[in-house]
Amino acid sequence: MSDLPDVFDPRRYAAGPPHDDYRELRERHPVAWQEEYEVLGWPAGPGFWAVTRHADVVRVLKDPVTYSSTLGATQIRDPDPDDLPFIRRMMLNQDPSPSSQLRSSRGDPYQHGRLRRLVSRAFTPGRTDRFEAAVRARARTLLGAARDGAEGGVFDLVTEVTDDYALLNLADLLGVPGGDRGLLLEWTERVIGYQDPDEPPVLGPDGRPVNPRSPAMLREMFAYAQELAAYKRREPADDIMTSLAHSELADAELEMFFFLLTVAGNDTVRSAAPGGFLALAEHPGQRRALREGEASLDTAVDELLRWHPPVLTFRRTAARDTVLAGQRVRAGDKVVVFHASANHDERVFTRPEELDLARTPNPHVSFGDGPHVCLGAHFARLQLRVLHEEALRLLPGYELAGPPRRLVSNFINGIKSLPLRLPGPGSGPRG
Ligand code: HEM
Repeated sequence: MSDLPDVFDPRRYAAGPPHDDYRELRERHPVAWQEEYEVLGWPAGPGFWAVTRHADVVRVLKDPVTYSSTLGATQIRDPDPDDLPFIRRMMLNQDPSPSSQLRSSRGDPYQHGRLRRLVSRAFTPGRTDRFEAAVRARARTLLGAARDGAEGGVFDLVTEVTDDYALLNLADLLGVPGGDRGLLLEWTERVIGYQDPDEPPVLGPDGRPVNPRSPAMLREMFAYAQELAAYKRREPADDIMTSLAHSELADAELEMFFFLLTVAGNDTVRSAAPGGFLALAEHPGQRRALREGEASLDTAVDELLRWHPPVLTFRRTAARDTVLAGQRVRAGDKVVVFHASANHDERVFTRPEELDLARTPNPHVSFGDGPHVCLGAHFARLQLRVLHEEALRLLPGYELAGPPRRLVSNFINGIKSLPLRLPGPGSGPRG
């Protein structure tokens, strides 16, 4: 056993990201070995390097030739080797181009650049911006209903506002019809909640949890993606699925991309939205500055994302022997970047432990970096800005009515419940 802080254990994250341990790792062991023991019914793994400094995180993300997304995919847990060829069909788990020594060992075509170019056309800022009016109307409706229905002035922001907000905005962007939206929620919950004891895992014949990313778990979702694409070919609209259905994507690519979007576009915003409200509730002075126009929502949204990155980790696999921050890393080792730690790196951010809504520049890595940098960042920022704009109008004051409940996960920085209390009649806006 090593004496280094353990930042792997998903159970720890129920208390929030372990910032003291991250700081210690950044200072003493910026590339630190982590044991990957059996936890929550999941088998032990070989261990991995935790990368905690901003410069090293960026270096890993920008160097796909050394740090591959394809070799072992992008989650800390090793995928079942039988599932790997399938998982590699998702662009998230592809590399832009192979180094010559790897061409033979991986065997798969290096599609990332081609896929990314094709799907980027569906994600133009112009298209995304056309959803702003619908996003705003939804923010108003959900926040207004939560405020009006708050018993004793208390409501749960997550269950009453942000879960639906993220899901319905994504469903609009994709072009998923109203009646099918429950399906999207069910699928994303299966995939993300799987480390959380509140979400019982689906067990396989051996009594172990079934990997939620395996083909068996995804069949239903893929069939739906094909149906939806066929519908969009008949009835085109101004949405992402119409654009994808009319693109050069093969059927299998389209299914995979639909899956990627439903997870990447939902759970991230579902985490970021309450994360931002939690930060503002804990910093009433900063919220006041926002309300009084001393800080703009454009900088505030990025500072809230720096403070509460929805994604905690992404994994790469070393494709060759290398040295990172003085640490030898061998070909085949898992290398995991820690976004919340990079966002608090005192080498890059002045007073990182302070929430500063006017912070600029703000080179946080919450959307990643390099060839896989988030494709939905524009849409995510739009949703967050609009939600806070409407909240400033509709909920001029709020405070925490109890502690947040967080997801047990070392992948998604999820908030399952955030009870807020509104000021009583006549008490005027607070902080
Ligand atoms: C606050 C919200 C969001 C955050 C923090 C976030 C974060 C990220 C991160 C860190 C990556 C890089 C993964 C890697 O390094 O391997 C990524 C990739 C991606 N994101 Fe997001 N995301 C957000 C919202 C969205 C939305 C709304 C969409 C779509 C509607 C989306 C679609 C994608 C896609 C398709 C990729 C893969 C890109 C590629 O492999 O080239 N994301 N996201």
